[in-house]
Amino acid sequence: MQAMSSSLQTVLLQQQQEAAAKLLLGVFVISAAIFVPTAAVEVPNSNCNRTCGSLEIPYPFGTSEDCYLDSSFLITCNFSSSSNSGTSAPTPFLRLGNIKVLNISLDGELRVTSSVTRDCPQKSDYNANDSYNVLVLKEFPISYTKNVLTAVGCDTLALITSSESSDKKYMTGCVALCESMTGMVNESCSGIGCCQTSIPDGINDFTVTVGSVNNHSNVSKFSPCGFAFVVEKKEYNFSTLDLQNMQNKDAFPLVLDWAIGNQTCEDAKKNITGYACKAANSECYNSTNGPGYRCNCSSGYYGNPYLSGGCKDIDECKTPNHDCAVNACVNLVGSYSCSCPMGYQGDGWRNGSSCTPVIPKPSNSKNIIIALCISISLLVLLLGGSSVLLGLKRRKLIKLQEKYFQQNGGLMLQEHILNQGRSMETTKIFTNDELKKATNNYDESRVLGKGGYGTVYKGVLPDNKEVAIKKSKICDKSQIEQFINEVILLTQINHRNVVKLLGCCLETEVPLLVYEFITNGTLSDHIHDISRASSLSWEKRLKIATETARALAYLHYETSMPIIHRDVKSTNILLDDNHTAKVADFGASRLIALDQTEITTLVQGTRGYLDPEYFQTSKLSEKSDVYSFGVVLAELLTGEPAISSCRPESYKNLAMFFVSTVKEDRLLHILEDHIVNEGNIEALKEVANLAEGCLRLRGEDRPTMMEVAMELERLRIMEKHPWGKDNQTTEETEYVLCTPTVPFNIDIGVGSSVSGVSGPDSMINQILKPLDDGR
Ligand SMILES: *[C@@H]1O[C@H](CO)[C@@H](O)[C@H](O)[C@H]1NC(C)=O
Ligand SMILES: *[C@@H]1O[C@H](CO)[C@@H](O)[C@H](O)[C@H]1NC(C)=O
Ligand SMILES: *[C@@H]1O[C@H](CO)[C@@H](O)[C@H](O)[C@H]1NC(C)=O
Ligand SMILES: *[C@@H]1O[C@H](CO)[C@@H](O)[C@H](O)[C@H]1NC(C)=O
Repeated sequence: MQAMSSSLQTVLLQQQQEAAAKLLLGVFVISAAIFVPTAAVEVPNSNCNRTCGSLEIPYPFGTSEDCYLDSSFLITCNFSSSSNSGTSAPTPFLRLGNIKVLNISLDGELRVTSSVTRDCPQKSDYNANDSYNVLVLKEFPISYTKNVLTAVGCDTLALITSSESSDKKYMTGCVALCESMTGMVNESCSGIGCCQTSIPDGINDFTVTVGSVNNHSNVSKFSPCGFAFVVEKKEYNFSTLDLQNMQNKDAFPLVLDWAIGNQTCEDAKKNITGYACKAANSECYNSTNGPGYRCNCSSGYYGNPYLSGGCKDIDECKTPNHDCAVNACVNLVGSYSCSCPMGYQGDGWRNGSSCTPVIPKPSNSKNIIIALCISISLLVLLLGGSSVLLGLKRRKLIKLQEKYFQQNGGLMLQEHILNQGRSMETTKIFTNDELKKATNNYDESRVLGKGGYGTVYKGVLPDNKEVAIKKSKICDKSQIEQFINEVILLTQINHRNVVKLLGCCLETEVPLLVYEFITNGTLSDHIHDISRASSLSWEKRLKIATETARALAYLHYETSMPIIHRDVKSTNILLDDNHTAKVADFGASRLIALDQTEITTLVQGTRGYLDPEYFQTSKLSEKSDVYSFGVVLAELLTGEPAISSCRPESYKNLAMFFVSTVKEDRLLHILEDHIVNEGNIEALKEVANLAEGCLRLRGEDRPTMMEVAMELERLRIMEKHPWGKDNQTTEETEYVLCTPTVPFNIDIGVGSSVSGVSGPDSMINQILKPLDDGR
């Protein structure tokens, strides 16, 4: 022994250095084995003993023939051996041998005991037979990633070699030499008093030999023996006490890599009956240490992949392994998802949330209201409606859907009313008979107005209350829910400058909407009818502007969900007998695309009021209303219609005309004559500047509706108390213009013939297409 040791000394020293280097480089990857406890399972035999003492024995292992996959997975549970240790606990052994099993895990690890080899030449009971140990496992290679050969002592040589019978010949080892205990560090196997070296892969057996250079003669006082053993690396921590006390330890855990058979997954799958990954949702993977394969439950599942039905869904929501917010986790088979809270939508409520409040898409809300709630607009020009085919096709579809409309929509709304209870006063579902009576069976004489989207009738309810009943032309079943929500939303709006929706009737083929009746017509009538215009003083105009701005600001900022009107124009502003402004038709119909003419109608009706930025980008914001309101302001100031072919071609749009004129400082030329007087020039200029601010091309450059309303409010107060006029110069500068001006001649009356589609019209026609296709 000693001769061999000496001759090998140099080689072994090298080995030791290499081992130390590897150690420092962190070559040993220690991954925590996850032990999945298995329930007593059905297959292959429900009567199998699945424990032996404290050891759990999952299939494919088993203690008897019906219980294991094949004989290499036999665990012998030895009850008699327990008498040796004086305890009653039975002891598990690997197969028929004497290798004690400590632990079995389904991810391919098996822990057995590995005995300590010792060499104590200085002891009286020295037995040379102790200085080597043989371990032979027919199957199950020794894990080369988890185990290391360890030697402890100060005159110690340790060798690990293949056994005689092995195919794979190897020999490696390490040496620990020291003269004193100086330099030894607890928990560090650094070469002083302790050395370690890795072992090769794919080995099923080994012989560990331990020897010395000088029989421990020079170090016998503190290191009388040398020890060597193969151990799971994390299970051994060197202590200086071990130099003396290792005597008391017999064995350490050793990790084996077990696997099924000697085939790869690919080959094994060819023979279905023999294929061991029986569970659905299990996956096969090849052993990385020697032949054979193992199985694993797919991600999102846990359990025993070797049993049919062994892989069960993991309820991730009950584990910390999900990133959903509290109560947002929803377990799915094999995975999970995060939900959004009620009233929110998105990818799920996670840390760094991606849920956003559900807001009825403005583009949709526009369409629904236009078709369902009818504008009283009388200024509708019907330009050529194309795509008749599409319109017919859709009409056919609608015919079918109408049948279901009343049931669905009505029930939904009724349900809401019942749930809300209190809403009864605000939302009323009228019967068809009631409304028939109110309108004298929709008598022609009761027609208040007809538009592209339907007819408005005047109705008188049994309590003599006057109402406006709007009968829309078309309805689309798929949008019933949105329609109902819209109705609910609108009925909850309560603002003295907003026309109140009293209720609806769903019993008819098409829904009927019942509005508060406004007595005095539209603002447009008042501005553009010469006889009425003269009686519309500046004071009244400013009041109407202020009230309209207030109503819009309310819709933008004070309702439960921001409402963008999208169709602000003078025909949608109604006046009562006191010239109180009432904004009508806020929100526009989702159904506008159902009928091509209606699109045309919509664009015609709002031509001149449409926000050019919205036109170009299709991105709608509150600032689009601000633009349209700017046009209304310009109308109030000039008395000019929003679109007029009486103006030069490039100024058909009042907005362009107005802005240019203001920029050229020619405002006074275009103001409505009778509203100008000595006292109000400054105020008119300020309102003009405000209108110009509203008409800026970039939405972000425009003031908000709230700012507009406040500014108008302020000007009204000034009007009433002219003495306050001197302190307002700062606000005034906000809308002062500084761009150089280009003079032009207003050529009213000359170019009065309309030259077909040009300028703004062609732009509108271009926009129509995407609007339609986008449905
Ligand atoms: C088996 O090993 C796992 C992980 O290594 C451990 O959690 C478990 O306690 C061990 N069981 C026994 C009986 O040693
Ligand atoms: C050592 O082993 C040999 C053969 O295995 C045996 O004959 C001998 O008696 C053993 N010696 C001791 C001291 O146990
Ligand atoms: C190592 O630890 C043991 C007790 O845990 C202690 O008695 C001994 O002095 C320590 N040795 C060193 C070198 O720190
Ligand atoms: C150890 O002891 C041997 C003889 O017992 C001696 O020849 C050798 O020099 C000693 N080595 C040291 C390092 O003291």
